[in-house]
Amino acid sequence: MLTGYRPTGPLHLGHWAGNIENMLRLQSDPANDCFFFIADWHMLTTHYDRTDELPGFVEGLVLDWLAAGIDPERATVYRQSDLPEVAEMALLLGMITPLGWLERVPSYKERLRDAAERESATFGFLGYPLLQTVDITIVRARIVPVGEDQVAHLELSREIVRRFNRLYGEVLVEPQPLLSEAPLIPGSDGRKMSKSLDNAIGVRDDEATVRARVRSFITDPRKVRRGDPGRPEICPVFALHRRFSPDDVARIEATCRTGELGCVDCKTLLADHLVETFATFRERRAELAARSGLVREVLAAGLDRVRPVARETLAAVRAAMHLT
Ligand code: TRP
Repeated sequence: MLTGYRPTGPLHLGHWAGNIENMLRLQSDPANDCFFFIADWHMLTTHYDRTDELPGFVEGLVLDWLAAGIDPERATVYRQSDLPEVAEMALLLGMITPLGWLERVPSYKERLRDAAERESATFGFLGYPLLQTVDITIVRARIVPVGEDQVAHLELSREIVRRFNRLYGEVLVEPQPLLSEAPLIPGSDGRKMSKSLDNAIGVRDDEATVRARVRSFITDPRKVRRGDPGRPEICPVFALHRRFSPDDVARIEATCRTGELGCVDCKTLLADHLVETFATFRERRAELAARSGLVREVLAAGLDRVRPVARETLAAVRAAMHLT
């Protein structure tokens, strides 16, 4: 199985609950052969004018993974751009991928709709799901843990694989998405937590920042003061409690409904839990960050493991296409 992450900035609670915990669970099952990679070429499809941020984001993401418990002994952790075999295979699969299939992908259509974005919708961006198809098929992944937003990409990957196999013989493996069951984590404005909406709490944020961010969360607008009954089911603070305060959640729900629990206290409780939950993570991360050369070593070891697999697939693809 394989999953990739674009290095576009520090992880936040939405990533943590949606993906990181899923990756930890998958990694812990010895039946799984996990590939977790940093999709830095994919980052370029939208952030090509900000490449100066790239080295720091890659290093930061690897440290976040390691501090979270991703174990490079169990999972193969590597960086996409270290594996030029991906680029060659993307060129080859690009030859058989109809333009119309790529133009139909929702993320591409959405981008074109916005005039300001039109100029930044490059050839590389159009090819985003094709490159993703190569990430997956080059390691012959069967299972791809992703979010709901990636299902259209995976469907396209399956179509490209079928077309390749029809043209040249059964060489590539058709991947299946594995959707995370975790409910969406809302940000401070109640919308999906996201860095670009500036509504996120980062896993690396210090205590003061976490507390300030939690205080800025919207709550049930009908609950104005303590004593007013609240509706936890529409409150983003409660959505975070559900995820990060498992031992307290029943009491919080009940006392919010009766009005006994006020929003200020409810937020303080949440901030306490978040600070406590991420204290170990932040300590481990600081220790790992102090070990110079660690990230480079981890990525080099991962590359050693993935490269033979990628070379074998590419050789089969070349042979099937008579490029021998
Ligand atoms: N598109 C994924 C995202 O935005 C990142 C990604 C790139 C990926 N290549 C992949 C995910 C291959 C799974 C498999 O999150």
